[in-house]
Amino acid sequence: MTARKIIIDTDPGQDDAVAILLALASPEDIEVLGITAVAGNVPLPLTERNARIVCELAGRRDVKVFAGCEAPLKRKLVTAEHVHGKTGLDGPQLAEPTMKLAEGHAVDFIIETLRREPAGTVTLCPLGPLTNIATAFERAPDIVGRVQEIVLMGGAYFEVGNITPAAEFNIYVDPEAADIVFRSGAPLVVMPLDVTHKALTTRSRIDAFRAMGTRVGQMVAAWTDFFERFDMEKYGSEGAPLHDPCVIAYLIEPHLFSGRVINVAIETVSELTLGMTVADWWRVTDRPRNCLFIGDLHADGFYALLANRLSRL
Ligand code: BDR
Ligand code: CA
Repeated sequence: MTARKIIIDTDPGQDDAVAILLALASPEDIEVLGITAVAGNVPLPLTERNARIVCELAGRRDVKVFAGCEAPLKRKLVTAEHVHGKTGLDGPQLAEPTMKLAEGHAVDFIIETLRREPAGTVTLCPLGPLTNIATAFERAPDIVGRVQEIVLMGGAYFEVGNITPAAEFNIYVDPEAADIVFRSGAPLVVMPLDVTHKALTTRSRIDAFRAMGTRVGQMVAAWTDFFERFDMEKYGSEGAPLHDPCVIAYLIEPHLFSGRVINVAIETVSELTLGMTVADWWRVTDRPRNCLFIGDLHADGFYALLANRLSRL
């Protein structure tokens, strides 16, 4: 089987960083055509910097990292320093990256790549607000039908919200963009909080990263240590959810995940529930089914995959 070609659209973020590392560690399964940064967890100058730090950490200065949209389509940017720290990658000491940003805008890269590659051969992996993807779809509607699949982290149904009582962060930050993507007709797989809250770090899972004895192992352990304190305080859980790596793990081992093909609509009007992913899990409407909404995963298998692949870097 040839490796699946992907574009990672991201706002790193410690969990985004682990997702990028997992993809770069898995060349037999995944070919990363480029990484497009978007404003989200922290502002754009930090997310594009952080994406370059992660590529350098993986020894992959050759990966193209593009800067994208610095603000949501219609709203002011909301960030999440309370979760990820001031830099977005707080935890271990980090040197400034020396690899350069790729020339051009992330949205142009997405459009050009989808037009250049054969139709149905490029998968989009959004790990942050959907601003870059929606902008590309609006500007070049011809590319929508060329997307192989979108596998994204965002939304929640049974877990409701993490940034408001009703909404998950990535969708809340740019609900208009999410609405465009969910109504685009492109094949869509969604990793909501319902599944990512089952992908929890534990002491032994973090120790396994540290025990790799590599720089990557140390960094991932330090990042997850940092990231953990927030969720443990908030949810009283044993560890922190590694949200974004679920997207990449799904590409490599889809059998670890299960869900339902349903309709999901995005709330863009109500102040109270803005950014909610209204998921017709019980199929009580006749709205068209537009995504595979994941609800469960095999957590031990997921962490075994992560440990195995990250130990290669
Ligand atoms: C999502 O929001 C960000 O804080 C994480 O990186 C993840 O993509 C979880 O709600
Ligand atoms: Ca993210």
